[in-house]
Amino acid sequence: MEDVRFAVVGYGNIGSRHVSFLKGLEGARITGVCDIVPERADEGATIAGCESVYSFDDVLSRDDIDVVNLCTPSGLHASQAIASMRAGKHVLSEKPMALTLKEADSIIRTEKETGKKYFLVKQNRYNPPVSILRDMVVSGKLGRIYMISSTVLWNRNMNYFREGEWRGTLDLDGGALFTQCSHFIDLILWIGGEALSVNAWMDNVAHPYIEVEDLGHVRIDFKNGCAGVLSYTTAAYGRNMEGSLMVLGEKGCIKIGGKYLNEISDWSVEGVEKPEIPLGAPANTYKGGYQGSMSNHDKVLNNVIGVLSRDEDIAVTSVQGRESVEVMQAAHLSDVLRRRIDIPLGEEEKAFDTRKREPLGTHWSKQG
Ligand SMILES: NC(=O)c1ccc[n+]([C@@H]2O[C@H](COP(=O)([O-])OP(=O)(O)OC[C@H]3O[C@@H](n4cnc5c(N)ncnc54)[C@H](O)[C@@H]3O)[C@@H](O)[C@H]2O)c1
Repeated sequence: MEDVRFAVVGYGNIGSRHVSFLKGLEGARITGVCDIVPERADEGATIAGCESVYSFDDVLSRDDIDVVNLCTPSGLHASQAIASMRAGKHVLSEKPMALTLKEADSIIRTEKETGKKYFLVKQNRYNPPVSILRDMVVSGKLGRIYMISSTVLWNRNMNYFREGEWRGTLDLDGGALFTQCSHFIDLILWIGGEALSVNAWMDNVAHPYIEVEDLGHVRIDFKNGCAGVLSYTTAAYGRNMEGSLMVLGEKGCIKIGGKYLNEISDWSVEGVEKPEIPLGAPANTYKGGYQGSMSNHDKVLNNVIGVLSRDEDIAVTSVQGRESVEVMQAAHLSDVLRRRIDIPLGEEEKAFDTRKREPLGTHWSKQG
């Protein structure tokens, strides 16, 4: 079987992870590393043993690329995904899928029109404790689910926001919900099912020099009667404190904790002992010294190869990605309008653009 040929676009923190995982992966070959900063493209291409590419348009015109890995700033994901599929390439996009529902819908339309495949990185679904928790819910062992609660207490400081011009901007970052917490929204929806409404409140408490929120609370009510709550911040003092997910059901309660959903921290389930969990992958650690989610990108990349070479199913579909975008857009709209927003969004609500909301930082300026 032919190797799947990947081009990594954006050789920053996560792009370098894509390259290192792809290098050791059976069935994969890297045929290009692209960055608009030439030294970064060169660094990645040297490690990958392939050609450097200095502009995204040059990636599109190449005919030795099957999959474009989008590791660029969040606000570029949608337009670059659409352009890649139109140029005949499959797409593996880093989260978030898009910053607006309109963009997510365009991606799904383009996928249908071009027949190209769209994959989304939601690697936390592979964390051993997360998959055990989901199995307990889906198999009915927790009974009816009353409540899902997730807490993200992470630290992103001035060094982090100065690391890239795009960080902390409404246009390219979209805020802590979109950029840091879309994994957690994905998991809440993966467990809770179909959302019915969203209520949210956001603020910027500790990063006046960025446009976006650094703290928020999102309540999601589900069709099955369960309520989900996400409390999140990037203003935790000094370091990441917690990234947790708790599910409370009729027959038990399970909490997954640690700093990045890597431990079962509480387990009380009728007739089921707490399982021993396999040691998961460590967290992604980035150049700036901060940590992110568990590093399961090899599993995501294996799914891409499996779908393209062996006709396997896509692990996270564009439709599932869209569900997260809809809830995150609803959360921003709820914060702006100070009211509950029903899901699915109506036509006017669909047109709401998070990029155009008022900045939340009090003296927004990249200079601080
Ligand atoms: N799955 C995860 O857990 C995870 C972890 C970290 C980041 N991410 C996502 O990955 C994306 C990138 O984050 P990062 O921390 O690596 O950012 P980064 O700033 O470290 O890297 C982005 C890179 O993209 C390059 N770039 C910008 N515009 C470009 C263009 N038009 N064409 C080619 N290259 C371009 C920049 O020069 C930079 O090198 C974000 O959307 C983020 O949400 C996901």
